[in-house]
Amino acid sequence: MAIREIFQMGNPLLYQRSEEITDFDTPELHGLIKDMFETMADSDGAGLAAPQIGVLQRLVIFSVESNPRYPDAETVPRTILINPEIEVLDDERESGWEGCLSIPGMRGVVSRPSYIRYSGYNEQGEKFSREVRGFHARVVQHECDHLDGVLYPMRIQDIRQFGYDTALFPDED
Ligand code: NI
Repeated sequence: MAIREIFQMGNPLLYQRSEEITDFDTPELHGLIKDMFETMADSDGAGLAAPQIGVLQRLVIFSVESNPRYPDAETVPRTILINPEIEVLDDERESGWEGCLSIPGMRGVVSRPSYIRYSGYNEQGEKFSREVRGFHARVVQHECDHLDGVLYPMRIQDIRQFGYDTALFPDED
């Protein structure tokens, strides 16, 4: 296992479309997923997409237990999601603060559909789907955006609601 380098905003790899995974349950895939979890934990992240460590494959992971970066957040089950698809289930949208390990020290407000169904495959190639709302739905959409070369600042509507953690939330640690 290894902590990988997380590519930062500006790196052209982050703006590319990642490719579908066709081989499941291989040592390479298991190793990549292990590295991603270790890398995410090392940075206290809520999620990580493979292209963030320079691997242009449609694979994201996420997990929110009690995370110091999101002290009031709902929890999200530890998930490996491959070749994901997202279906928006109603018109309702929600605005919320997002951060990204590729954009350290900053946060911005992004409006996203609040009720979605996502489906995809686990590392064994078994298909699953879930209907989720709120923070869970936000995390999934944020991570899946990475697979299409989209970073959250590209979705910010009011750029005044994008800035440094220390300036936006001076009372937090
Ligand atoms: Ni991100």
